[in-house]
Amino acid sequence: MLIRSFDDYTRAYEHSVNNPSDFWNTVASGFSWKKPWSQTLEWNFETPDVKWFIDGKLNITENCIDRHLPAKKNDIAFYFEPNDPKGQARSISYQQLHDDVCRLANTLKKLGVTKGDRVCIYMPMIPEAVFAMLACARIGAVHSVVFAGFSASSLAGRIQDCDCKVVLTTDGAFRGAKDISIKSVVDEALEVCSSVTNVLVYKHTGTAVNMSAGRDLWWQDEVPQAAASCPAETMDSEDLLFILYTSGSTGKPKGVVHTCGGYMVYTCYTFQNVFQYNAGDLFWCTADVGWITGHSYITYGPLLAGASTVLFEGVPTYPDAGRFWQVIDKYKVTHFYTAPTAIRALEAAGLDFVTPYKLDSLRVLGSVGEPINEEAWQWYHKNIGKEKCPIVDTWWQTETGGMLISPIAGITPLKPSYATLPLPGVQPILVDEKGNEIVGNNVEGNLCIKFPWPSIIRTTYGDHERCRQTYFATYKGLYFTGDGCKRDENGYYRITGRVDDVINVSGHRIGTAEVESAINMHADVVESAVVGYPHDIKGQGIYAYVIAPSTAKDHEALKKEIIAEVNKIIGPIAKPDKIQIVSGLPKTRSGKIMRRILRKVAEGDTSNLGDTSTLLDPSVVDEIVRGKQ
Ligand code: WTA
Repeated sequence: MLIRSFDDYTRAYEHSVNNPSDFWNTVASGFSWKKPWSQTLEWNFETPDVKWFIDGKLNITENCIDRHLPAKKNDIAFYFEPNDPKGQARSISYQQLHDDVCRLANTLKKLGVTKGDRVCIYMPMIPEAVFAMLACARIGAVHSVVFAGFSASSLAGRIQDCDCKVVLTTDGAFRGAKDISIKSVVDEALEVCSSVTNVLVYKHTGTAVNMSAGRDLWWQDEVPQAAASCPAETMDSEDLLFILYTSGSTGKPKGVVHTCGGYMVYTCYTFQNVFQYNAGDLFWCTADVGWITGHSYITYGPLLAGASTVLFEGVPTYPDAGRFWQVIDKYKVTHFYTAPTAIRALEAAGLDFVTPYKLDSLRVLGSVGEPINEEAWQWYHKNIGKEKCPIVDTWWQTETGGMLISPIAGITPLKPSYATLPLPGVQPILVDEKGNEIVGNNVEGNLCIKFPWPSIIRTTYGDHERCRQTYFATYKGLYFTGDGCKRDENGYYRITGRVDDVINVSGHRIGTAEVESAINMHADVVESAVVGYPHDIKGQGIYAYVIAPSTAKDHEALKKEIIAEVNKIIGPIAKPDKIQIVSGLPKTRSGKIMRRILRKVAEGDTSNLGDTSTLLDPSVVDEIVRGKQ
C-alpha cells in the first residue's frame, strides 16, 4: 500500500478518485479497530455533513501505542531535547509512553473526567504535553491544546468556548534565555472560567506558584500513584478527538473539530507516504504541539506509524543559531520538518552556525506553515540538505487535519516553492471570484477542494453554522481554503498566500479582526485597521493603522501601549510590527474600509493605488502615504 515510486503514486491517486471508498477501505484496514465500519463515507458539502468509517469503533491510543508494544516496546517513541543543551535529555520508550499515558488517564478519571468532557492543555513542549493529549484520547475526553504563548485572556476565551472541566499545565516554561510563568497565566484566565474544577500542574521549572486549595493539584503528587494500565475507551469513528482553535477573517478564533477515525487514518497515511519514513529512521518536527502541525506530525502521525521522533523544548536561536543543526547531529536525525520562517532566520544568522555540523544523517527535509520563497528553498537545499535531500513543501491547514498538497519525498520531481501535486484522496480545484472552475494549466485562482478526505474539519465547536459560512458557503459545493494558488504548465500547485483577512506571521495564523479588536481596547484608540506586509524573516508582518484623537499623548508612548495591549489580549505573536497613527482611514461612502489601499501602502507600493474616487475623503490617502512607517 505504501507509495514507493511515481507509478505507485499515480495509481494510488487514480484509485482514490475513481473509487474513494475502496481506496480508503484498504488504507483503514491497516489499523486496529474494535469494530469495523459499515460504510466508508457519507458526505454533503451544503450543510455540511461529512462522516468517515461510519459505525466503526476504535481508540486512537491503542493504534498509537498498544498496537506497537509486542514488537517494539523498548523502541524509543520520543527523544526529548530540553531547552538548555546541558539540561536533562530523556528517552521515552513505547512501553514507558504506555505507562505514563495510562497513569495520567487514570488521574483524569479520578478527577471526574469522563468521555466527551473537554480538557484544556496549556503546556510547553515537554513529553508530558504529548502524554496529556493521549491520556485524554485514552478515556474519550476531548483535548483542546492552547499554545502556551497565548495570553490569559485568549486562554480564557478558549476554555469558556468549550467549557473545559480540567486544565493541564506546568509551573513555568523555558524558552531560550527566558523563564516564562505559565501557571500564573492559567490563574488569571480561570478568574473568569467557571467550568474548570481542577488544574493539574506539572512541576517543570521550579518557579514559585500559587496553588488554589481544592482546585490545583501537583502532577508529581497524583500521577505516579495511578495505575499504569487503563482500558482504552471505545470511541465511534465520528466521536470528537480534539478541538483546536484557529483564527479566521472575522470574529474570535473558532474551535476546529476533528474526529477519531478519519483523522487517525489520514495523519498516519500522509506521515508514512510524504516523508517515506522507514523503521530505524528518526523524525524531527520542530513545531509546537499547540498548533496543528504538532498535533498531526509530532503526536499522532508518527506514533500511529510506530516512529521515533525528537521532541524539542527550545527555540532555533538558543544558545545560538546552530541549535537545530547541533540537535540533528546529536541524535542523527534523518527527517527534519520545519517552517520557512525558521529557515530564513537561520539563513540570516550566517553559515558560520551551520558549517561546524555534519548533517550527514539527514535524508528528507520538510517545510510547512507558509509559502517557502525560492531563495530560502535553495539555501535549505544546499546548506542543510547538501543537495541530496528532497524537500517536501507540505501545504495544509488546521481544518484539513493533515497534508493535502505535497511532494512525496524522493518520488515526486521537485520544483522550488511549489507544493507540487495533491496527495491521494485530495481533489483540488481553482475557481474565480464567482466560483467558476478555472480549468487547464498555467492558471491562478482561489483554491478549493471538491471531495472530502478523511480528516476534513467536521464542525466548528458549538457553532455549526459558522463552519458552513466560513468554509462551505463561499463557493457552492466546495470546501474553500482561503488560499490563492497557481497551477503551472505541468499541473503543479503553488500556494500564493491567503486571499482573506488572515495574516500569516512566522507561520502563525493571525486574524486581522482579532488584532484590531485588541488595539481598539486601548482607551485612546478610536478605530484601527490591520493588514499584512512582506517581512524578510516572518513572511508577513503586521501593519496597524490607528486613529487616535489629536489630543492623544505622545505617539511613541501610545504605540508602546498599543503593543502592550495586544500582548495582553492575544499574546506576543500578534503584536504589530509597525504602527502608523492616522487621522482617518480610507472608507467608501458606505463605511467600508478599503483595505486594498492600506495593503498597498504597507507594502510600499504607492505608485498605483487604483481608483480612490469612491472614497468618502480621498485626502486621507495622501496623509497615509506621507506617514508610511
Ligand atoms: C499556509 C498549518 C504555502 C496557508 C499546517 C494555509 C502554506 C495556512 C503552507 C494554514 C505551504 C501552510 N505553502 N502556504 N506549504 N502550509 N500554509 O492552519 O495559507 O496554521 O491556509 O496550518 O498556512 O495554517 P495553519
